[in-house]
Amino acid sequence: MFVKLASLGRRFWLSTAAIAVAGALFLLALTYRPAIPPISPPPRDSFSLATVERGAALARIGDCTTCHTANGGAPFAGGKPLATPFGTLFVTNITPDAKTGIGNWSKEAFRRAMRDGVARDGKHLYPALPYEHFTHTTDADLDALYAFFMTRRPVSTVQPANRLYPPLGFRPLLAGWKMLFLHKGIWQPTQGESAEWNRGAYLVESLGHCGGCHTPRNLLGGEKRSRAYDGGVADGWVAPAINGNSPAVRAWTADRLYTYLRTGIDMNHAAAAGPMGPVTHNLARAPEADVRAIAVYVASMMTRAPGAKVLSAPPIDRAAQAAAAEPAGAALFAGACAGCHGPGAPMMQQGRPDLSLGSPLHEDNARDAIQIIIQGLTPPVGAPGPYMPALADNFSDAQIAQIAAYARARFTDKPAWPNLEEAVRKARKEGQQP
Ligand code: HEC
Ligand code: HEC
Ligand code: HEC
Repeated sequence: MFVKLASLGRRFWLSTAAIAVAGALFLLALTYRPAIPPISPPPRDSFSLATVERGAALARIGDCTTCHTANGGAPFAGGKPLATPFGTLFVTNITPDAKTGIGNWSKEAFRRAMRDGVARDGKHLYPALPYEHFTHTTDADLDALYAFFMTRRPVSTVQPANRLYPPLGFRPLLAGWKMLFLHKGIWQPTQGESAEWNRGAYLVESLGHCGGCHTPRNLLGGEKRSRAYDGGVADGWVAPAINGNSPAVRAWTADRLYTYLRTGIDMNHAAAAGPMGPVTHNLARAPEADVRAIAVYVASMMTRAPGAKVLSAPPIDRAAQAAAAEPAGAALFAGACAGCHGPGAPMMQQGRPDLSLGSPLHEDNARDAIQIIIQGLTPPVGAPGPYMPALADNFSDAQIAQIAAYARARFTDKPAWPNLEEAVRKARKEGQQP
């Protein structure tokens, strides 16, 4: 009896082990992608100037420089650390250097990286390269981008090693991730909508990758497609909803969105802070008609938002009530903020938007308001723009919490934010660059 069970057991385990090994081999085979043969870097004059220029415009809409250029580094030479919930990734060099960049990549290899997230040598790429969106781009546009990058100045770099939590350094796992979350297919126009709306839809959904920040993600980092544009997080900031759940108190019309996306500030709302700053900086130099199309499409997503019908809400200012509720915050605000944001302040007389008009103080989550106080607003280097100093070192967590609580009470009609001090602690940590 015992003997029989034992041998059955052994046979059972042997066959299970065989199945497991076969399964693992099968999975490895599924994740395997062949290398695409290297080419010698194509001569610059093999690309037409018009194609290169179109590629330059598309690169702005795709924010390629924001991720691929390190602070003070050569354009597109990579090396910039990106903080992700899964550790720190170093962005790669996409200049046409043959050894350390993409100089020996063919057009096919480039298309595959952008659509399937697979490098020329066959290794799977992390979705920090937003191929969830880039995958919807047309062949012609990818080829224009290729022409643009292949005609940049080649820069040789040393790529730092990624610091990811194990086992995420093991790239074949990404093949499984893609099976779950990468939905391929070139973006198709919607019948019955205008050409401008369709152009906007295409750019937003593909190269613009607005959903990469504005759509919430699941625990594995995939976008929740059923909740597209419902608000997500980026670098410790909240990218608020830009659909029917937009927290904006005044309507985001196509014209206002155009102004905001193009200049980084709209007088009916506020300035673009945090990770949205570079997006607007890039769009400022993209083709005007494309930015208009983006604005038209995004405005159409927000038509059901509570504030969508309100063209000009009067500013809210409950100074007395807020001072009674948050006396400590009121005193700090008077000293540190009122010189710019108080009624009659010189800045306000220049027509700057009132604090009650921007979304940060109205959002359910206090993070953007806290990050703006901590990090301030830095206009992109060399560009004129609104400026607010970073106040991280001037105040304790408790004081920043008091200021935020007061500003919320004074400039909105929303309930107080809970656990503000904890939120400040978290925001300080998450806003830090690795
Ligand atoms: C949000 C940040 C981000 C943006 C925006 C971005 N990339 Fe990247 N990209 C990355 C990261 C991170 C990697 C490296 C991924 C890895 O190591 O697996 C990468 C890798 C690549 C690669 C593969 C390079 C290699 O050597 O394997 C190419 C090609 C590329 N990006 C092109 C582009 C282009 C073109 C754009 C603009 C249209 C762009 N990227 C925009 C983050 C970004
Ligand atoms: C890298 C992340 C990121 C990307 C990509 C991004 N956004 Fe944003 N966006 C943000 C963040 C963060 C905020 C909040 C900034 C603030 O409070 O000033 C924001 C704010 C906005 C707002 C203001 C909303 C409000 O009610 O105040 C609009 C509109 C917007 N984004 C549209 C877009 C569009 C359109 C795109 C694509 C072309 C885009 N964003 C791409 C991160 C991003
Ligand atoms: C030197 C002037 C200056 C000071 C001081 C200053 N700010 Fe700002 N702040 C600005 C500018 C400029 C903007 C961008 C324009 C805008 O959005 O209104 C801004 C934007 C903001 C925003 C986002 C816009 C909105 O409507 O929600 C918030 C929130 C904010 N400031 C809060 C504060 C608080 C709280 C303090 C004090 C701790 C403070 N600021 C101190 C100049 C200043």
